Amino acid sequence: MVKVTFVTSQGDRVEAEGEPGDELLRVGQAVGMPLEGTCEGQMACSTCHVIVSPEWFDRLPPAVEEEEDMLDLAAGAVRTSRLSCQIVLSEALDGLEVRIPSDSHDMRRM
Ligand code: FES
Repeated sequence: MVKVTFVTSQGDRVEAEGEPGDELLRVGQAVGMPLEGTCEGQMACSTCHVIVSPEWFDRLPPAVEEEEDMLDLAAGAVRTSRLSCQIVLSEALDGLEVRIPSDSHDMRRM
């Protein structure tokens, strides 16, 4: 079991659990985070954008060029931004903490 904490744009902490091999995007969606994941992990949208806490950012495998390009277009992107569809859980990521960017909006609830 890999524990992940999502911090919402309102500052609430939401604990989630996934299995090694799960995409962070799916784990977040399962606990109701507003991550649309419109392109299903094809790196063609940026609706799965999350901000990784600095202490975890360097422990993640680096982003490939396509992901960097997409993050350049993501609203509110910062240095530790990642696409959550590209983060695959592993034992080493137990305790991972990520923040939902404040300008992400949930199309499903509009
Ligand atoms: Fe579209 Fe991640 S789901 S880039």
